[in-house]
Amino acid sequence: MANEILRIEGVRKGFGGLKAVDNCSLSVPERTIVGLIGPNGAGKSTLFDLISGFIKPDAGNIIFSGKEIVGLPAYRIAGMGLIRTFQIPRALMRMTVLENMMLGSQNQLGEMILAPIIRHGRVKAEERAIEKKAEDILKFFDLLRMRDEYAGSMSGGQKKMLEMARALMANPRLLLLDEPFAGVNPALSERLIEKIKLLRKSGLTIMIIEHAIPYVLALSDELYVLNKGAILASGQPDKVISDSRVFEAYLGVGSDAQP
Ligand SMILES: Nc1ncnc2c1ncn2[C@@H]1O[C@H](COP(=O)(O)OP(=O)(O)OP(=O)(O)O)[C@@H](O)[C@H]1O
Ligand SMILES: [Mg+2]
Repeated sequence: MANEILRIEGVRKGFGGLKAVDNCSLSVPERTIVGLIGPNGAGKSTLFDLISGFIKPDAGNIIFSGKEIVGLPAYRIAGMGLIRTFQIPRALMRMTVLENMMLGSQNQLGEMILAPIIRHGRVKAEERAIEKKAEDILKFFDLLRMRDEYAGSMSGGQKKMLEMARALMANPRLLLLDEPFAGVNPALSERLIEKIKLLRKSGLTIMIIEHAIPYVLALSDELYVLNKGAILASGQPDKVISDSRVFEAYLGVGSDAQP
């Protein structure tokens, strides 16, 4: 069996009286793609917020690469190689595509206050290396020609790609993608599927939240379904998707919201 890169045990998070994430446990094997689906408000993005340290769970353990990460600040978790993207792209619209990419890079020497004075040459060389890396990643996403455009001038789909490209600048080992296909047109989505598969092939582990079931099925090695904060089903994607309980959850059968 493949090594486990992420394990979540009995994680809970409430907002007031709402159980947004309720006793969730799951496991992500290294070099796989794990899908996470579920109706609107099921708690999927909240689970990503918890894993990436943006919010703290009320209870439960989160183990990344063998280390307990609950309570660590988000930047420390990111520094360990656990990087997430956001459902709404967070590109800085008045900066260029390349500048956005450079910001995604961690531990730059140039950010150290004294670095420009004491190690000017080395900082310059490092910046060039980071720029080269940014260009390589932009090229991978077919975005290199937009290098000097303002991020604000990109289409919704391109902004989503930039979000993912920027995440790769931080050298992730585990990448959490929150609805990477939302707002991306079908032709671009087909290309994006191939790129995500290439990332897996290169050794990256990916967790992906997505509403578009065909894309989830095309990518996931394993699938989890979240409903009202709890894991409703998990396992082989084809089997999970044909589970009648999953169908009912999407229809809202038995939901409080139904008449
Ligand atoms: N910071 C917060 N404060 C209060 N309630 C919140 C907060 N964040 C999320 N929620 C609530 O928690 C529940 C789960 O939200 P979440 O965004 O995780 O759902 P989701 O599965 O990602 O939904 P979608 O598919 O629509 O993105 C929702 O009822 C939401 O309103
Ligand atoms: Mg969400």
